[in-house]
Amino acid sequence: MAIERTFSIIKPDATARNLTGAVNAIIEKAGLRIVAQKRILMTRAQAETFYAVHKARPFFGELVDFMTSGPVVVQVLEGEGAILKYRDVMGATDPSKAADGTIRKVHAKSIGENSVHGSDAAETAAIEIAQFFAGNEIVG
Ligand code: CMP
Repeated sequence: MAIERTFSIIKPDATARNLTGAVNAIIEKAGLRIVAQKRILMTRAQAETFYAVHKARPFFGELVDFMTSGPVVVQVLEGEGAILKYRDVMGATDPSKAADGTIRKVHAKSIGENSVHGSDAAETAAIEIAQFFAGNEIVG
């Protein structure tokens, strides 16, 4: 399988509980390499752009409020089949449906406060990475 990069966010519910290291440990144990990482406070404009695909959804306002409510850690993860692998490592969006041992099963609080985001496809990964990182900030 090809080496890929995917985009990850450790969300405010996780940073608030000091879980950055715990989440990173699960990521690294799964064989994914953190090749870029920074802790930021997302602006509303950044969150609205990032989640533009969900603009018509009833939870959009709540989602933007949550993602700007506290620090997030944005990351680029690299590895074989990284996009699908990270989705497996995260578990289902709704933590009550997530498999044992996944980040969301272990740490997430609810479908909204679900601790992590990961890209769903190669095209979105490229767009999401480019929104937050310059090429020279990613060191594989
Ligand atoms: P994420 O992978 O970041 O992409 C979109 C996010 O919308 C998703 O994770 C959830 O956190 C959030 N989301 C999805 N469904 C709901 C919902 N019903 N209520 C609130 N947030 C939701």
